[in-house]
Amino acid sequence: MTAQINKKIPETAQIPVSDYVIFGGTGDLALRKILPALLWRFYDGQVSSDFRLFIVSRKPPSKDEFAETLRPYCEPALAEFNEAETVWQGFLSILTIQAVDLKGGAGMADLAGLILERATADRPLIFYMAISPELFGGCCDLLHQHGLVVPQARLVVEKPLGSDLASAKSINDILLKVFEERQIYRIDHYLGKETVQNLMALRFANVIFENQWSNRQIESIQITVAEDLDVDSRAAYYDKYGALRDMVQNHLLQLLCLVAMEPPARFTADEVRDEKLRVLRALRPAEAGDVQRGQYEGYLDALGSASNTETYVALKCYIDNWRWSGVPFYMRTGKRLKMRASEIVITFRKQPHAIFPASQQEPNRLIIRLQPQEGLRLQLISKAPGPGGMRLFPSELNLAFGDTFEERLPEAYERLLMDVARGNQTLFMRLDEVLAAWSYIDPIIAASQDMPPALYPAGSMGPEDSLMGTDVKGWVDPKEEI
Ligand code: BG6
Repeated sequence: MTAQINKKIPETAQIPVSDYVIFGGTGDLALRKILPALLWRFYDGQVSSDFRLFIVSRKPPSKDEFAETLRPYCEPALAEFNEAETVWQGFLSILTIQAVDLKGGAGMADLAGLILERATADRPLIFYMAISPELFGGCCDLLHQHGLVVPQARLVVEKPLGSDLASAKSINDILLKVFEERQIYRIDHYLGKETVQNLMALRFANVIFENQWSNRQIESIQITVAEDLDVDSRAAYYDKYGALRDMVQNHLLQLLCLVAMEPPARFTADEVRDEKLRVLRALRPAEAGDVQRGQYEGYLDALGSASNTETYVALKCYIDNWRWSGVPFYMRTGKRLKMRASEIVITFRKQPHAIFPASQQEPNRLIIRLQPQEGLRLQLISKAPGPGGMRLFPSELNLAFGDTFEERLPEAYERLLMDVARGNQTLFMRLDEVLAAWSYIDPIIAASQDMPPALYPAGSMGPEDSLMGTDVKGWVDPKEEI
């Protein structure tokens, strides 16, 4: 018995004992994200020693070698644990390494034998495809041939699910030949972030904001996901995608949906996703002047060839419905920028009649900081204390989650992997959402891909920016106190 096994977790956090089968189990995604997330869940007692985690790869190392490879990725988690060694050994004891060649099928019968040995209707069987989409078809066929597509089976896939509408459709057709839509969990890891989920709580568990949440009170909305990292190690992959496909089609549009959607009638997977889909379908096709693309200086050196791929994009869009008619939504994201900062800035309209000097007035803003330094800030105007007349100054109401919650904020994958076992698809993308997002992005890419992006210095804030207009707040310094 390991230290964590008797750990009590709240009833609402309990998930059924499950089997996770990770194809591509020795790859980067498994090492960096999936297994450390499962380790945390193991430590917290959600994953128990009755679970089985199958690490599947074409030529896997021995279990000891794999443990050695995995260990450094788990070190940050282990450093936080009590009795870390016991937990680590306990976690290793639920791992099984299995060789399977997804092209020829060798090894699949053995894997199926192991899985089916303990398969029961109430034990979720989760296939995680941490492999390249070219292998999806072969993998699905093998699962089918070996009798593994049972009702309790679930399939987890990651982006990129295609690089345009047509390829997204054909990849999904392959999955849907074998699995039903209710069994498919398409990960957009942004939806697993605590602060992103908190957007729904902010909007639908409070009335004070919802009453302001429309074109009557809101001037503009900005969504920024800035990264300071470059793409050096992934340049070959990244160059085929660029910021529009890699970030906007999924993460930024999902954020936009959560900010702009109507309140669903119930908090169920389909009702939430129906509302997000309505937003995507209401997006007005972007016009040429609404898109600004950039590439950081030095990108071509890392790539070793010429390229028009954008590492930065800013986009202005409109949602053509009653609530949002006329309100510009700005989205921007980029690599190798000055800072890592993801935030949503809601700028409210000015008061209808000003009785104080305009020079002392700034619009109210609600800033939702997604990462790092997660929190909410409401910018207000207050009176400067003391004599000297009615002098105004900008002040802020701050809610820094780091100060409010003592618990660590779990990584997105921890939540998402548990939701798959629970059978809750709310935070996963339904096929129609994915396709609607591509329908919006495809024409933007088609119109811009041959145009050279504007260069911007690495470590800057992107290209000279005219798109955002002057009335929109600029980048917020993450070092500013929240
Ligand atoms: C991934 C993109 O989906 O998200 C990466 O492919 C990007 O290019 C990453 O760096 C950003 O995720 P996070 O969680 O670090 O904001």
